[in-house]
Amino acid sequence: MRIAISGSSGMVGSALMRTLLESGHDSVPLRRSAQSDGSPSLDLAPIRTGCDAVVHLAGENIAAGRWTAARKRRIADSRIVLTRRLATDLAALATPPAALVCASAVGFYGDRGSAALDEQQPAGTGFLADVCEGWEAAADPARQAGIRVVHLRIGVVLSSTGGLLGRLRSLFRFGLGGRLGSGEQWMSWIHLTDLVRVVEFALERGDLVGALNAVSPNPVTNREFTRALGQWVHRPTLLHAPAFALRALLGEMADELMLASTRVVPARLSESGFRFALPELRAALDACGA
Ligand SMILES: NC(=O)c1ccc[n+]([C@@H]2O[C@H](COP(=O)([O-])OP(=O)(O)OC[C@H]3O[C@@H](n4cnc5c(N)ncnc54)[C@H](OP(=O)(O)O)[C@@H]3O)[C@@H](O)[C@H]2O)c1
Repeated sequence: MRIAISGSSGMVGSALMRTLLESGHDSVPLRRSAQSDGSPSLDLAPIRTGCDAVVHLAGENIAAGRWTAARKRRIADSRIVLTRRLATDLAALATPPAALVCASAVGFYGDRGSAALDEQQPAGTGFLADVCEGWEAAADPARQAGIRVVHLRIGVVLSSTGGLLGRLRSLFRFGLGGRLGSGEQWMSWIHLTDLVRVVEFALERGDLVGALNAVSPNPVTNREFTRALGQWVHRPTLLHAPAFALRALLGEMADELMLASTRVVPARLSESGFRFALPELRAALDACGA
């Protein structure tokens, strides 16, 4: 297949580019450009002559800094506005791609306690839930043009190359790791290797349409995650960051990214026969090196 990828320089995009090339596919990056009015878009020149599928991963990093009004606008626009532009442009191509696989996130479900959340569950409330809902809806023009659209509701991606683990590893190594808030909040995660395999699965399986939870079948509480990280780096995790301190330090981000409880299950992947290579947290952490 000839596959175009936005966000190809990111943690997921660069791993995906590598894997697709190894699998014998022809993958091309979609670079960012701006419209004359300054709104974000992607340069589709590399695929005007035709491509089989687009994997759309681009978006402003949500954890790179405190959520000021300006950052929230960039987080939302780089997903909702950009995706609508892309979907509209793809729909207008003489030969549109057959499939559009878009990133979304488990943030779609919001803060939902310990309820197991499959793809049938409605969107939650809050900034991230609103962004994810708008991000998924923004692909409507592609859907209407008959393109098969898949939304990957991705959990926290574990990788040796960055992301949350990249940030936490040194903290935990210095013995500064600890649970956040009550530690009872659920966290849905997936190893990068499995996420790339999920993307390939979504590209290859022409019958998959709509939302797909891209998470391991074994979500954990923050307390369990903290303990596993401590064991991974062979350090104690006796510290505890109280919710009020996190809120004072990080504002709204603390509630949505650290204290929210989202226990997501990969119901559709399991029904479709997808086999996880790294379904257990300890093995997934070990695969990230020490
Ligand atoms: N990593 C996770 O834990 C996680 C969890 C849930 C969902 N996701 C979603 O999965 C996607 C890929 O994640 P990732 O970890 O690979 O993200 P990442 O490392 O932050 O990479 C995202 C890429 O998007 C592009 N980008 C950056 N700022 C942008 C902006 N303002 N507007 C448009 N594009 C921008 C860049 O690629 P180019 O320079 O090549 O354009 C960047 O490398 C993201 O949409 C993310 O929200 C990730």
